Order: sequence, then C-alpha cells, then structure tokens
Amino acid sequence: MKTYTAAVIGAGTGGQLSMAALANSPSYELVAVADLSLEARAAASARYPNINAFSSYQQLLSDCPTDIICVATWPTSHLEIAHAAVACDLTGILVEKPMAETAVNGRQILNAVQARRLPVAVPHNLLVMTHIREILARVNNGEIGDLRLVEIECSGWDIINAGIHWLNFVITLAAGDQPVSVLTAIDKTSRTYRDGMQVETEAVTYVQFESGMRVVMHTGDYIRIAEPGRDTLFRLIGTQGSIDFYAWQSCYSMQNAQFPNRQLIDVSPAASSGHQLHLDRLAEQMRLGVADYTVAESSLAALELCEAAYLSATHGCVVNLPLSAFSPPPNADWHPGRAYLGHGGGRDGRRLPKKT
Ligand SMILES: NC(=O)c1ccc[n+]([C@@H]2O[C@H](COP(=O)([O-])OP(=O)(O)OC[C@H]3O[C@@H](n4cnc5c(N)ncnc54)[C@H](O)[C@@H]3O)[C@@H](O)[C@H]2O)c1
Repeated sequence: MKTYTAAVIGAGTGGQLSMAALANSPSYELVAVADLSLEARAAASARYPNINAFSSYQQLLSDCPTDIICVATWPTSHLEIAHAAVACDLTGILVEKPMAETAVNGRQILNAVQARRLPVAVPHNLLVMTHIREILARVNNGEIGDLRLVEIECSGWDIINAGIHWLNFVITLAAGDQPVSVLTAIDKTSRTYRDGMQVETEAVTYVQFESGMRVVMHTGDYIRIAEPGRDTLFRLIGTQGSIDFYAWQSCYSMQNAQFPNRQLIDVSPAASSGHQLHLDRLAEQMRLGVADYTVAESSLAALELCEAAYLSATHGCVVNLPLSAFSPPPNADWHPGRAYLGHGGGRDGRRLPKKT
C-alpha cells in the first residue's frame, strides 16, 4: 500500500487534529509543518521529532514538497494558501472548514482543486461518526416520517465555526431539498472572536427549505440548553416521530411508532478520529485516482448559509438564496412595534398585494 507524504500548514487546534490523524494512519507519513508561531512549531516538533518545521507556508512548499497538504490556518488565509498548495505537484489536499471566510472564496478554492482533479478532504467530522450515519439512515428510511423541523441549541460556539458543521449535517440530511432563505438576529455586544473570526454573542438563525422544512439554530457564548448538562442539542421533528441527539456524543434518542415511549440508543463510536476517517477516505481516492467532491460541495452550501446568516443580521432582512443574487436593500426608516401615525408611506398590511 502506498504511503503518502503529508505536511500541515497551521499547527493550532485544527492542525493538531490533522497531525495526530496523519501520524496514526498507515496511509501517511507526516513530514513537515508550517506555522507563524514559534510556540506552535515548538509544540509540533516536540510531539513529532522527525518533522521539519517552517515559519512560513511558502518555505514549506518550496523546500519540502509532499503528496498532500493540510490547510489548517484561520479561514481568511485558506484561499491564498490553498491556491499556492494546488500550484505544487500535489496528489490530494485537506482544507479545513470553513473552506474560506466567504462562499465566493470557498468556491474559488474548490474550482482550483477541481481544475487539477485533486481529491479533497474537508473534515466535517459529524458526517463520519457512527451515530450520525445511523441517524441519517433512519431519517432517509422515513422512520420519523417527513422531516419538518430541525432545532439546534449550541452553547459556547457560533455560526461560522461550529454552526457550519451543524448546517452541513442538515444539508446532508435534507438530501436534495434546497434551502431558499435565511433570516438571522444577532446580539454582538460582547465583541467575541473565535478561531480568527469576529462572531456573535448570541444568534438565532432561521433557514427555510423548498419543501417547507425549517431549521432554527440558536448559537452563542452562553446558550440555555433545554437538557441540563449538555452543550449542544439537536431535535429532528418529523411527521411521525422525532430524534434528539447531542452532536459529538455517540448516542441519540428516538420516538416513533417503533419506540412510542422514546428510546435512548447508545452507539459504539468509530475506532478512528473524524480527521483520520476523512484522511483515510482521501487516501483511498488518491489510490483509485478518483475524486469525490460531495463533502466539499455540502461544506460550501453550509458556508453560504453561514454567510447569509451574518448578512441577514447586518442588513436586517431576509436573505433569499442563492447568495450570489443577494444585494442589500436600502436602509428602511421603519420601526416595527412603534405606532403608525397614518402618514410616512409604507404598505397596508391588511391589503397586501398578491405575491408573485
Ligand atoms: N474540523 C474540525 O473539527 C476543526 C477543529 C478545530 C479547528 N478547525 C478549523 O481549523 C482552522 C484553524 O482553527 P484553529 O482552531 O486550529 O485555530 P488556532 O488559532 O488554534 O490555530 C491556527 C494556527 O494557524 C497559524 N497560522 C495562521 N495564519 C498562518 C499562516 N498564514 N501561515 C502559517 N500559519 C498560520 C497560527 O499561528 C495558529 O497556530 C479553522 O478553519 C477552524 O475552523 C476545524
């Protein structure tokens, strides 16, 4: 079996997950890391003494060519680094989620990767977890009827960093049902930042799908979760039942005709980490000379929802999809909840024109 040489750019939390996975996998040999931070390079070298550590990604790419590159820096630098990496003689690439800070930049990365027909991994680890695969199969088999509502409560995280995992799961769950609009309200008073991005203190994101299915996602620094002791809760509500689960925890509960009193189902977790499962899939694609862009595409669709959510809050409007057609409305001098004094224009809500 061929072993692929690998380098990781960005040796923080995400990069360490890739490094551990590469070091554990018989398909790879971790040979180099690049990070701007001396501390991050020192930590990587201490853990993996045989690797080369570079202070710039450019130096790594020129001095230490590898079969694959893992891009695990902050999202705003993914485009520049992925472009430079793809220009090298690579066999495959991993780009961390979010693939970029905007959907347009993320699409540019995927275009460049596809132009080279390179297999790509985007480590949305929820998708490869055993309990999640079971949940996806049960919903796709119709075990809770038609999906009507996905409610997500998530404390300690935000739309762009964790929400993108949750929305990517929903897009996979929706299996072709397309999101049509996003409406988000944001409190930003704490000026919280996370993983290189300015994020919300608290947000509610509401996504409508073509079928009428809704997603309500409540994210932020301190979110009250309906079940005490949990930091994330998903509720999938169907016409004939529901499934609750807790993101990364390897279990779920289900209520339907088969389990009328709701059953908690514990699932044995996979032996490998999510990053390793994604990297092993990447190795398989490289060996077979094929490229499967399903996860990269759903990641971009989720990124579009994240960006739409932030735009919705910024401009105080519904963002209809696709995002490429969005242009911000003019600022409305209108204050819902205040008295209407009988003048000042506007539209009579009792005599709405027919919607076209
Ligand atoms: N898939 C997952 O489960 C997962 C988990 C954690 C993080 N991530 C993703 O990983 C990415 C990085 O986040 P993080 O949490 O690791 O952040 P982090 O702050 O822990 O680490 C980022 C590292 O990148 C380095 N860096 C930044 N710009 C660089 C550049 N131009 N060249 C070289 N090094 C550079 C920084 O010095 C830092 O050490 C994000 O996209 C994040 O969403 C994914």
